Amino acid sequence: MEVDIAGTESFGLLLKQGAEARVFESNFVGRKSIVKERFSKKYRHPLLDSKLTIKRLNAEARCMTKARRLGVPTPVLYAVDPLLHTLTFEYVDGPSVKEILLDFGLNGINGEQLDDVATQIGSAVGKLHDGGLIHGDLTTSNMIVRSETNQLVLIDFGLSFTSTLPEDKAVDLYLLERALLSMHSSCGNVMDKILASYRKSSKQWSSTLNKLAQVRLRGRKRTMIG
Ligand SMILES: Nc1ncnc2c1ncn2[C@@H]1O[C@H](COP(=O)(O)OP(=O)(O)O)[C@@H](O)[C@H]1O
Ligand SMILES: [Mg+2]
Repeated sequence: MEVDIAGTESFGLLLKQGAEARVFESNFVGRKSIVKERFSKKYRHPLLDSKLTIKRLNAEARCMTKARRLGVPTPVLYAVDPLLHTLTFEYVDGPSVKEILLDFGLNGINGEQLDDVATQIGSAVGKLHDGGLIHGDLTTSNMIVRSETNQLVLIDFGLSFTSTLPEDKAVDLYLLERALLSMHSSCGNVMDKILASYRKSSKQWSSTLNKLAQVRLRGRKRTMIG
């Protein structure tokens, strides 16, 4: 671990500085890894803050492990450090779905790859939901396609929680739909393909997709008012 001039600890190359966490590319016993460090909120009491941070750290680790148990590919969790407030994962080598879709929008190549990605997304989310797990942040940056195998890997379980409510599942899908519409409108009906695959993967697809229709209407009303 290095200490830089500002006196903050550094776990390697900084990839992302977020509001709640910093993400580094690092090394874990000779393997390329990712270190996700949750940092403290200065306005919270230090003791309460540390407790909350550890709770979230454990929740993220637990949800990611649960996803894996449900048959959804996730990075391997190497370590949880409650003192440093870090999670260490396997580094997944490959483009994010965001990069793939942006590239598709620009060059319009390889519709087959796009179909395959959409199918894998629907199937993964269906498995999560049937297992009672809501991802909570289904954006195209939180999905990586492993170069070696072309397998879709879900990451970032920082906002995940357990629920079997159709409403929670529908909102999970709705956020993905909004993300796709705003970022990747040139990729055509990716969401339709994702939902077709979700129907095959989730036994409870019917109640979830009914709710999704309601959530969409609500969303539209809100934008009309706003
Ligand atoms: N296991 C991983 N393998 C490769 N890249 C990763 C991995 N985990 C995170 N990343 C990269 O770091 C970024 C941020 O990580 P993420 O867990 O999504 O944190 P945040 O909660 O800040 O979004 C991801 O969008 C991705 O680019
Ligand atoms: Mg993320």
